[in-house]
Formats: sequence, C-alpha cells, structure tokens
Amino acid sequence: MKGRIADMLAAQGKHISFHTPGHKKKGADITELSYSDNLASPTGVIAAAQADAARILGADVSFFTTDGSTSGVYAMLRALRSGGVGRLAVPVSSHVSVLRGAELAGLELVPVAQEFSCGIARQPTLAAVRAALEGADALLLTSPDYYGFFPELANIAALMQAQGKPLVIDGAHGSHLHGTALHASGYAQMWVDGVHKSLPAMTQGAVVSAKGEWAARLRESIPYFRTTSPSYPILASIEYAVKYPRNERIERAAEEAKRALGALENPDWSKIVLPFGEKSGDARRYLEARGVYPEFDDGNYLMFYLSPATKLRDLKKLVRLAGRLPRAAVRDARLERAAGGGKTVALAPRQAVGRVCAQTCGLFPPCVPLLFVGDVVSEEAARRLAGAVSAFGLAEGKIIVYEA
Ligand SMILES: Cc1ncc(COP(=O)(O)O)c(C=O)c1O
Repeated sequence: MKGRIADMLAAQGKHISFHTPGHKKKGADITELSYSDNLASPTGVIAAAQADAARILGADVSFFTTDGSTSGVYAMLRALRSGGVGRLAVPVSSHVSVLRGAELAGLELVPVAQEFSCGIARQPTLAAVRAALEGADALLLTSPDYYGFFPELANIAALMQAQGKPLVIDGAHGSHLHGTALHASGYAQMWVDGVHKSLPAMTQGAVVSAKGEWAARLRESIPYFRTTSPSYPILASIEYAVKYPRNERIERAAEEAKRALGALENPDWSKIVLPFGEKSGDARRYLEARGVYPEFDDGNYLMFYLSPATKLRDLKKLVRLAGRLPRAAVRDARLERAAGGGKTVALAPRQAVGRVCAQTCGLFPPCVPLLFVGDVVSEEAARRLAGAVSAFGLAEGKIIVYEA
C-alpha cells in the first residue's frame, strides 16, 4: 500500500512498544506517537493526507473517520443543528444512521415521499422534495443508493440554492464517483464518502467533507463521533483508496455484465442488481456454495458490489454462474398504515401478518426500514424478514407488533 500514512508506517525503525495497543506486536497498528501525527489535531502526515483527499474529492475540508460513514453522517447532522437547522427533510427510506443521527442531534425529520416500484424505494422526485422543503430548513439525500440510483442532483441542488437551504448527501455508496458529474461534491455543502464500500479501503474507512461556511461547523462536530484511538491501518487505507486510480476497464466490463445478466438498469457501474424474486435465497446459496458472495439478498434482488479493485476474472465467473440461475418476479412489499398502540408482543414474521408494527425493522443490509411503526405487516414484508440473512429492529427474529 502507498500513501503518506502508509509510507510513514513502512518507515518505522526499531520499535519496542511501551504504548497501546496491548498486543505489543510490531507493525502498522500503532497509536499516536512522536512521528505518527494525531487524527484529532493533525499537523503532520494525517493533515497532509486529509488535505490531499479534500483536493481529490472536491472539498474545502475532508476528515478521515475510522468509524464508517455512520460517524460522518452523525457529524454532518450535528453541524446542521449547530448551523441553525431545526427541521431536516429526508426520504423515508434513509439509512438507520440518518434516522438515529437526527434523533441524537435533536433534528425534527420531515419525510420526503418516495414511490415503491419493482420491489425498491425509488429516489424522491423533485416535486416530492419541493413539497417537503415547505416544512424544512435543509435536505439530506442518499446518492447513489444501495441499488445504484441517483436523485435529480442538478435540479435539486438548484432548488436548494434558490431557497438558501443546505443540501447534505449521504454518499456511503458513492466515493468511487469522485471526479465525475455524479459525485456529491458537485451539489452538496456537506457529504460523506464511504470509501470502504466502493473504493479499496479497509472496512470502516470513510471521509466526511464540507464546503464554504459548513467547513468550520463540520470541523467542530467531527470529534464528537470519532474514536480517540483511530486505527492507523484503516487511516492509511482511506488515503490509499481516495488516491486509487479509476479502472475504466472494469467499469466497461461491469456494464457489459449487467446487460448479459439482465440486471436492473441503473446508472452506477459498481452495483449489479439481479432480480430473483422469491428465488433469491436459492440463488444466493448456489453462488455462495461456489465461493461467490453478494453484498446482500433482500428477498427480491441479489446485489453484487464492485470497485476499481474488482478482478475481471471474478466478474466473468459471476456472469457464468448467475446467468444460469432461475428467477421469479420481484414483488413489492407495499404497506398500509393503521392506528396502533398499547401493549406490544413479538411474533414470528408469518404470524405477524395483518398486525400493526410497533418497532421499525428491516433487512441488514440495505439497512433501511422495511416496516415502520404503524405499518400493517404484509405477507411480502413477512416473507422477506423471515428469509433475511440478518435484520435490525427484530427481537430474536420476531416482529414487534401491537397486541390489539
Ligand atoms: C446509505 C447508507 N448510509 C450510511 C451507511 C453507514 O455506513 P457505515 O456502515 O460505513 O457506517 C450505510 C451502510 O450500509 C448506508 O447504506
């Protein structure tokens, strides 16, 4: 691995550790020492690496975080609050980090309506954003989403500018797009780049960035959500990933693979989304038995996540294996709302059909709510939760519903 931080780690001389971490092993996993700078108040290699990242990502300031995009989202939300935002418009199918971070920051959420089609929540339209903005001081969008779709970035950014309200982007899935017209930097005042997801960084590596007046507020907010003992291997990998060259060969091959496999047509080369409907579990088990692991199985789609480091031969194997698997129609889990309240009970998904959900839950990933409090549990939602590899908001696999 190359980069300022990686080079600093590689240049270590004789090293007898009387410092943390307690494993006392030689190598990259060190702590803040006289030569290794300090993420909390950087003046050396980390400062230089973050400045490089800001230039590459199109920001005025960028901050590395070893706590995933989650901590970047939290920091952006706190910065919004300290900048006077009280009501934040967010699409209803936002990631749990957005919902939890808003609660932490004391922001009131204004839902932006989303249509559901082909089994997924679609990006909100400009009209839906405009309607939500009537009651909100700022907007947070996810771009791209886990399925590789983008909101109308240019139109929405123009609307925000006309209204003088900040736009914040959860780019947990968009770091590979820096330098292109689809990257968050062209539209948002603050955004997070989830470099560990779509660039070759270690898990938990992310960057949160800001422009203009928001830079100082983000700088003030980020320490609240970062560990004081960041992992140097992760820091080095973030820098390496941000500087990793674009791989147009794999981008072209991905687009060809999507066509060959009949994937969902999306504008993000890095996300191959294959519709299997209720056969998704069978398809996943078949592929996993042959060593091919998708990012997730949402009960409708298998999602295959690529990055510039994806190997062509691995992509070819995916095409060979996935192309021959049987498929079923994808289904929507469209839900009705109903009044509920009082005592709650935990029921196995299939027993919960027809009851009113009392605790927001969903599959993990994509980690966006499938059922909100007040939704009537549909057969389709129950099917997906019952077949989930992992989920959030359930109690030992059971859905919390109102008793009556
Ligand atoms: C849209 C979105 N935002 C934020 C996050 C949080 O990212 P991380 O897992 O890096 O904390 C995720 C994770 O899957 C996500 O899908």
